[in-house]
This record gives sequence, structure tokens and C-alpha cells, in this order.
Amino acid sequence: MTFKEFRTKWTPVVDEYLTEHLASEVEDQKISQIMTYSVMAGGKRLRPLLFLATLDALNKEISEQEIRIACGIELIHTYSLIHDDLPAMDNDDYRRGKLTSHKKWGEAEAILAGDALLPMGIEWIASGSHSAELVKIITQAVGPNGMVGGQYLDIDSTNNASVADDEQFINRMEWLKTGCLILACVEMAATYAKAASDKKEQLLTFAHDFGRSYQIYDDLVDVVETSEEAGKATHKDQEEGKNNTLTLLGIKQSRQELVGLIEHAQTSLTGLNGDVLAGFLDLYQKVL
Ligand code: IPE
Ligand code: IPE
Ligand code: MG
Ligand code: MG
Ligand code: MG
Repeated sequence: MTFKEFRTKWTPVVDEYLTEHLASEVEDQKISQIMTYSVMAGGKRLRPLLFLATLDALNKEISEQEIRIACGIELIHTYSLIHDDLPAMDNDDYRRGKLTSHKKWGEAEAILAGDALLPMGIEWIASGSHSAELVKIITQAVGPNGMVGGQYLDIDSTNNASVADDEQFINRMEWLKTGCLILACVEMAATYAKAASDKKEQLLTFAHDFGRSYQIYDDLVDVVETSEEAGKATHKDQEEGKNNTLTLLGIKQSRQELVGLIEHAQTSLTGLNGDVLAGFLDLYQKVL
């Protein structure tokens, strides 16, 4: 199966599960509506698909339980986007081609929708997997030593010229804010499917490269795509004083960095049933 076929098969299943369960498992209609607005605004569903594709690479069958785990990841990712867009953070008006949550519903409402999505996502992963190990992987990936830690470094270094040339700092910040959650998708799948240790190691090598490359891709999207294409404001990072791979290396070298990571990621899949996973890297073609 190709990545495109895999995506075409599973995206509607993920979307249907999210719609149904956000409606049936959230008692208050209004907060349910606010949460659903951002989750169902669109989005590539990259992280749930990555979890499912890793299971597929390990020949693990996908049923409702695995879909619940995958959707839990998407709830957590959506929480991170709602909070990332808040006026106190990146102050963005558009996300996934629609008004951001705080623009549509108000700031307090957006904060609370994010606050609600995070534990609900963890609960879906816990009840879908019955695995304390998966809960540990996801909570570590999005906490102070993961995504939130990276978001903190991002905010702390905005308009701070002293880190502009600090490659180590920028790599670490981007790894934490974006790479960790991507790695966790693969690690959760490999743990859940009880992958043999050699296969798990290969998959984690792939996930490290993919996780690191994804924020470089996102930084390139900011300079390469129009806001219509991206579904969010672009041409903004530099103006806002963000320090990232793009501002550090420029377009040409950022692209080279991305190509290097793609090549390394591809080689780490050798010998695995990894066609679908390799196909995730094709997403990058539009910024190269
Ligand atoms: C955007 O993530 C924010 C980052 C962590 C880079 P995505 O590019 O996966 O956004 P959606 O889910 O498709 O909207
Ligand atoms: C966001 O990074 C990373 C998250 C953890 C949400 P960005 O701030 O660059 O993401 P976009 O460009 O707003 O999607
Ligand atoms: Mg941000
Ligand atoms: Mg942002
Ligand atoms: Mg960005």
C-alpha cells in the first residue's frame, strides 16, 4: 500500500471517530462544540496516521481500540495548536483555514477547550491501550521535558538576539516542541505492538529524523507557502522575532538540512515493511 492509499483509507475513520466521540463523551454541549470546532477544522492528521502506519509496518491489525489511541493523540495535538495561537503566545487569527479558537469563541473559552482536550486525549490513549507504558510515553512527550518545555523555550527566546546563532539551542527547542510528540507516536505504536527490539530501534531512528525534520518543514512553510495554502498566517516568524532553523540557516541551507534528514530517515526503514512510513516524507516536496 502507498502512503496516499493508507491516508485515504484511515483519515475518514479517524475523523468519524473524533466527531462521534467528542459529541458523545463530552456532557456539556457548548464546550463540546468549542473543542470540536478546532479538532474538526481540518488538519493533516499526521500524528494519528503515523501511529497507525507504524502499527501497520509491524503487521498489527487496526481496530476501534487502536483508532481511539490514534484519536487521543490528535486531541492532544489540537490542544497544543489552540494554545500556541493564543494572544499571549503566537497571537494568530487563522488555523487550519478557519478562525482560531480564541477569535471564534473568546480567549477564556479557547484556553478551556485546550485544557479539556489534553486530559481527554490522555484518557483515550489510556482506555484504548490499557497500557501504563503508553501513558508514560505520551505524558513525557508533551510535558516540561517535551512539547511544553519546547514551547517555553520558543517563547523565552522570541526577540532574544542572543540565541539567534545558537544552533544547539534552536535544535533543542525545535526537537522538544515538535519532535518529541512525533517520536512518541512511533514509540507508542512500537510498544503497543510489542515490536522486536531491532525493529523498534529502526523505527525510532526513523522517528527521530522525522520528528526533527517536521519543524524544519514547518519553518519552511512559513516562508514558502501562502496563508491560503498553509491555512494559517505565513511570512510571520522572522517579523515576530522567532529564532528557528530558517532564521538561523536561511532557505537554502534549511532545505539541505531537510534533504539530509529525509535521506537518513529513508535508510533507517530498510528491511521493514515501511513503504507507508517512507511516504510521510513526500509531504516535504512542496517546500523543497
Ligand atoms: C503544526 O502541525 C504545528 C507543528 C507542531 C509544526 P501540523 O502541520 O501537523 O498541523 P495540522 O495538524 O495539519 O493542522
Ligand atoms: C508550534 O510551532 C509547535 C507546537 C507545539 C504547537 P509553531 O508555532 O511554528 O507552529 P505553527 O506555525 O503556529 O503551526
Ligand atoms: Mg509557536
Ligand atoms: Mg505558532
Ligand atoms: Mg510555524
